[in-house]
Amino acid sequence: MKIIILGIESSCDETSASICIDGKVMNNIIATQSIHEEYGGVVPELASRAHQKNIVLVVESALKAAKVEFSDLSAIAVTQGPGLLGALIVGYSYAKSLAFALNIPIINVHHMKSHILAHFIETPIPKFPFLCLTISGGHTQIVKVNSTIKMNVLGSTKDDAVGEAFDKGAKLMGFPYPGGPQIEKYAISGNPDKFLFAESQITDLNFSFSGIKTSLLYFLRDHLKHSPDFINKNREDICASYQKHLISMLTKKLILAAQKTGIKEIAIAGGVAANKELRIQIKQLSHKYQWNNYIPRFEYCTDNGAMVAMSGYIYFKNKSFGHLTDTPQPRMSFENEK
Ligand code: KG4
Ligand code: ZN
Repeated sequence: MKIIILGIESSCDETSASICIDGKVMNNIIATQSIHEEYGGVVPELASRAHQKNIVLVVESALKAAKVEFSDLSAIAVTQGPGLLGALIVGYSYAKSLAFALNIPIINVHHMKSHILAHFIETPIPKFPFLCLTISGGHTQIVKVNSTIKMNVLGSTKDDAVGEAFDKGAKLMGFPYPGGPQIEKYAISGNPDKFLFAESQITDLNFSFSGIKTSLLYFLRDHLKHSPDFINKNREDICASYQKHLISMLTKKLILAAQKTGIKEIAIAGGVAANKELRIQIKQLSHKYQWNNYIPRFEYCTDNGAMVAMSGYIYFKNKSFGHLTDTPQPRMSFENEK
């Protein structure tokens, strides 16, 4: 009997669904919400409404593309949290109703763990234990992954996430949301050594990104006073310098974590892992430190249903099922497991 999992993701601004058959991801249907662009960030109310509009079609497309009927499904995996409550409720309620109607189990998926489990969609698969730099719009973590189930957070951000630093930095410069790809685009032709920003003082494996964001704010304010056209004239150099700084804050901690643990299997995951300059630097560092690096395809870095379907397959085999009385958890904890 085949294990056929429908994965549903609706934690933020992507409505996505995917089918996984016996551990093979068949597709990854994503409806991205462009409505947030002009607001400089995700507007929760608008995200919920867009999920409501998209979810039925997205799920139907995933089933159709995999030539699967509802009655073929073994279980439904769904993002339970962390994320925006209103956004989670849409995917979660839909998944629960469908599971009830089909009389099949639901599988609760932790959003950040599913970013990590995206590494099991395609080969090469990292060897255990590996370190995963898990970087998104809401989280920044270094995770020691002992197995697909047992994961320990070694360090995380004390304030903003790195994706937030990209997004808020972009907003300060007047770019649309999401800011990461915008900053990356301008940074390509800029001088990364032109401007300096505040250095975080945290010495352990934790991160802090609120200082650099404030540093950019004051830097722009001071320059705009004398030259109202400062951003337009220096856009590429500001973006390149700011991006360089954010990336170096990430790589410094990753090097430290690798040194402290002696682990040389190094992975990155989450939306910010789509950043091309970071991907290049991870490869260069791997050469320098003899790491084996694992970098997911772009579509498996930003939010997607495929990582949820893959997680569902792993949990199904582990007999880890949810209940129809479970609820979405906007602040779902990571639960370190030894
Ligand atoms: O994982 P994700 O899609 O959603 C969350 O779980 O938050 O990550 C979204 C974050 C946003 O902050 C976005 O600006 C950032 O990932 N991002 C990038 C790039 N693509 C997306 N940051 C830097 N460079 C990129 N190319
Ligand atoms: Zn995410």
